[in-house]
Amino acid sequence: MSDATTALYPAPDSVSKGAFVSGMPAYEKLVAEAEADYAGYWARLAREFVEWKTPFTKTLDESQAPFFKWFEDGTLNVSHNCLDRQVAAGLGDKVAIIFETDDGKVSRHTYSDLLARTAKLANALRAQGVKKGDRVVIYMPMSIEGIVSMQACARIGATHSVVFGGFSAQSLRDRIQDAGAVLVLTADEQQRGGKQLPLKAIVDEALSLGGCESVKNVIVYKRTGGNIAWHEGRDLWLHDVTEKQPDTAEPEWVSAEHPLFLLYTSGSTGKPKGVQHSSGGYLLHAAVTTKWTFDLHPDDIFWCTADIGWVTGHTYIAYGPLALGGTQVVFEGIPTFPDAGRFWKMIQDHKVSIFYTAPTAIRSLIKAAEGNEAVHPKRYDLTSLRILGSVGEPINPAAWEWYHQHIGGGRCPIVDTFWQTETGGHVITPLPGATPLVPGSCTLPFPGIQAAVVDETGKDVPWGQGGILVIKKPWPSMIRTIYGDPERFKKSYYPEDFKGKYYLAGDGAIRDAKTGYFTITGRIDDVLNVSGHRMGTMEIESALVAHTDLVAEAAVVGRPDDTTGEAICAFVVLKRPRPTGDEAKAIAKELRDWVGKEIGPIAKPKDIRFGDNLPKTRSGKIMRRLLRSVAKGEAVTQDTSTLENPAILDQLGQAY
Ligand code: WTA
Repeated sequence: MSDATTALYPAPDSVSKGAFVSGMPAYEKLVAEAEADYAGYWARLAREFVEWKTPFTKTLDESQAPFFKWFEDGTLNVSHNCLDRQVAAGLGDKVAIIFETDDGKVSRHTYSDLLARTAKLANALRAQGVKKGDRVVIYMPMSIEGIVSMQACARIGATHSVVFGGFSAQSLRDRIQDAGAVLVLTADEQQRGGKQLPLKAIVDEALSLGGCESVKNVIVYKRTGGNIAWHEGRDLWLHDVTEKQPDTAEPEWVSAEHPLFLLYTSGSTGKPKGVQHSSGGYLLHAAVTTKWTFDLHPDDIFWCTADIGWVTGHTYIAYGPLALGGTQVVFEGIPTFPDAGRFWKMIQDHKVSIFYTAPTAIRSLIKAAEGNEAVHPKRYDLTSLRILGSVGEPINPAAWEWYHQHIGGGRCPIVDTFWQTETGGHVITPLPGATPLVPGSCTLPFPGIQAAVVDETGKDVPWGQGGILVIKKPWPSMIRTIYGDPERFKKSYYPEDFKGKYYLAGDGAIRDAKTGYFTITGRIDDVLNVSGHRMGTMEIESALVAHTDLVAEAAVVGRPDDTTGEAICAFVVLKRPRPTGDEAKAIAKELRDWVGKEIGPIAKPKDIRFGDNLPKTRSGKIMRRLLRSVAKGEAVTQDTSTLENPAILDQLGQAY
């Protein structure tokens, strides 16, 4: 972490004045309010930020801890809160979404439009027999239709599970099966970076793999008009099923604890887990963090570049900005098409004032700008910006400084927001009008979040000393369970060694000795973070050994990478003699493609090394810390005396 006394960026007056949380005393007042009466603080916000059909009478139920319940006897509808509420407040004609396609076509969608489209789809889903509590899988491109699909599920009380368009048929099948989905919403193809990528064909393949008998229908949004196979009786066009439906639909009023969505994410075992979120608590946190962390005002133009397939696209595209009646940009494409100036051009064209992206995008755009003057941000007018955000992985101070200077013109605070699929929204983050910034630090907990750094026994460690990141008290938007596996939920997040008391984030952290600011030091489990995407090492290992003709054994570790943060490095023992030269290259390619098919392109290992064996202790345990050194290209300095076969390290270190 940088020295807090020299590299401190206080909130500039231009942002601080008029901010919803203006100045550190205002932040401290909120923290004190939460400390004095924890449940009372969240209850106050829940009344302020959420419109309830029936008000809740009890705020927090801890009787089944760690299965906490918030506002349980309150009823609401999330889509009503995002759409009807805005129209009723006179914002019907306000632009909710400025949508830009991959090839640069812009359309504007008002709150009234979105409400009508959501109601039509909600009616269509009901007409297909989808009911409250049913699970619906959404495998959609970045689109108005994708967001409307989420809102329509929320409207009828169906629990959505969005699957990122980059996941393979196999991964999609696993998610459909685990959730027992009754319906899949997809598109014929998605259009990204000038290319058409099949979605419907992948859905067809996923459903043909078996185990998805729960699925009755597939609703298809016609995006490109590309050729697709059609299963009569199962497949329906989105435009056909919605066309004749009325544009109003009574919302299903649900308990605050009703599951709004599942989102599958990687953990430390092979099988992805379906993180289950609530309706009331989740919506509250989505709204309050969007308002305070981004200081979102009615005239702001907000742009979060995430995909709706990730949690960031849920909280800060599909729900948070709409719950506040904000205006946002939604983008179909990628940052490097037609060139690496695309983001900067879109900020200029749409006069974006709040921009939220991932460090991996920033790092790759820095590289591009340094290599090509034509796409350098200085060629664009970025003066509309007032606040910048970062999410998904640690932002290294050099990238922070560049983002601050070249994108933010030295005047825009950067909110480095730490959170996870499981937390529902920001948990440690600066507030732009209050918190002095330090590059590389996510600074301080969001008011009401009791984050701490502890040792193995759950005891606080002194500032300046690294430890394990925990959240000491439950909060409204926290994960409720892992779908279908409550035991795994307990084991993963409330393990016995912490006496079941604290939420275990799975990251390491250190607090600055002087300021108490948090810096995240990375995952402490077997989860990698590649370009801000979470990947379980065991998941990739399972995919590799599933190639039973070729692979005998595999171990996967991460190594630092300048652009993607971490890169996947796989050590593989084949069922045939260790290959070298061209043969090794060909097999490595085959295995990469295989993993791409099993999980998705984002899981393809960057490095594949072959060995006659893996480094193991005499009791047969793979020594991953040694593999991490080999992956980095470091000399192994650790003790190797317990190793069965020390010579293997040299072999695994060799390139081909
Ligand atoms: C990492 C994404 C450092 C962390 C919202 C966490 C971060 C995992 C930051 C969750 C940040 C996210 N600084 N690390 N600002 N934000 N992470 O579930 O390791 O896709 O546990 O949620 O990303 O990734 P997930």
